[in-house]
Amino acid sequence: MANIEDIKKELEKVKYPGFAKSIIEFGFVKDVKIDGENCLISLDITSSAKDVEEQLTKDINACISAIGMKATLNFNKPAAPKQSSNTVSGNNIAPQIKKIVMVSSGKGGVGKSTTTVNLAVAAAMQGKKVGILDADIYGPNIPRMMGLNGKEVEVIGDKAKPLNAYGVDVMSMGVLMEEGQAVIWRGSMIMKAIQQLLRDILWENLDILFIDMPPGTGDAQLTLAQSVPVAAGINVTTPQHVALDDSRRSLDMFEKLHIPVAGVVENMSGFICPSCNTESDIFGMGTCDALADQYNTQVLGSLPIEPAIREGGDAGKPIVYFAPESVSAKRYMEAAAKVITFVDSIDDDRTNEDIQPTTPPGVSACSTTAAAAPKKEQSSGESCGTGCGCH
Ligand SMILES: Nc1ncnc2c1ncn2[C@@H]1O[C@H](COP(=O)(O)OP(=O)(O)O)[C@@H](O)[C@H]1O
Ligand SMILES: [Mg+2]
Repeated sequence: MANIEDIKKELEKVKYPGFAKSIIEFGFVKDVKIDGENCLISLDITSSAKDVEEQLTKDINACISAIGMKATLNFNKPAAPKQSSNTVSGNNIAPQIKKIVMVSSGKGGVGKSTTTVNLAVAAAMQGKKVGILDADIYGPNIPRMMGLNGKEVEVIGDKAKPLNAYGVDVMSMGVLMEEGQAVIWRGSMIMKAIQQLLRDILWENLDILFIDMPPGTGDAQLTLAQSVPVAAGINVTTPQHVALDDSRRSLDMFEKLHIPVAGVVENMSGFICPSCNTESDIFGMGTCDALADQYNTQVLGSLPIEPAIREGGDAGKPIVYFAPESVSAKRYMEAAAKVITFVDSIDDDRTNEDIQPTTPPGVSACSTTAAAAPKKEQSSGESCGTGCGCH
């Protein structure tokens, strides 16, 4: 008669579908009990996909019957996401991530990556399980800013494991590409890359995944919004008016894609002199209040130009972690607290239509011929303003 050790030995032969490791190695087998000829096996698995459970049931039954027993299986798995989809197929390609926050800017160089890094680290310091996905295919500099440049990515089966720094899981095209390699990609390639960064990375159960988007309002934004439910958008801008015009486009895009706006970060707002510590107005300050009002949102924080912020970015040592007493670190902490409150207020049970226009393949999100048109209809011939190239 087989004992519990014999049963576990058999289970070592059962591979988790899609992976080279067994369910024992992954630690998915939580309990084994024997009841006469029957063995009761409890498993915690990470996938809610039906075919994973079916495959495991088949493989486990085969092993257990080989030692003359019957198996009763109890799967503990994440609930299939009810809402969580913006996609045409109804699939959320990253259901283990509770809230996705898209960090956008109308243009490059305004401090989007710096803001993403410091907000993410600040949210982790406030007890959240946080990740950063660097989707800025053209300028993936999150690895440098998180001190992860040159780190090797571990591949498990056919998936890559995120890197981790300061309690934050990180994945970036920057760590998957050769250093300094120029990327000239067409829209369709960007879409594929973004979907792979969500689907083929072993993201753990995260409270918040911050996504550093490429600047502007193009294919990447649209793809992301159609692949996963985006709980919140953050716009990063500098206070000058040119940047503000670009920000309007970026905020319009959130509106069109039905992404709730968590707020605006006014970056490079004033200058804190490293020698005398006084704050002076260089690019203007406080111009984002009107912008936030106009879009019915809030200013999450105003960050001064502070040399320590740039030095922290270049050295991979985020200011919020390494100089928590600085003015900027405190402002990042407050801004992150506002983001946490905001995403907590976003209902998990939203339907596709609440957040996204659902469109058939090949039809742009702003098309008037879409299956379920966006709430605000566009008149034909008018560009949606998202830069998706529909007109
Ligand atoms: N508040 C700030 N004070 C000083 N330097 C900053 C600040 N915000 C960003 N920077 C620096 O400005 C440059 C551009 O910022 P980055 O975050 O890379 O912008 P983006 O991602 O929008 O292109 C970087 O060198 C960064 O360190
Ligand atoms: Mg950047």
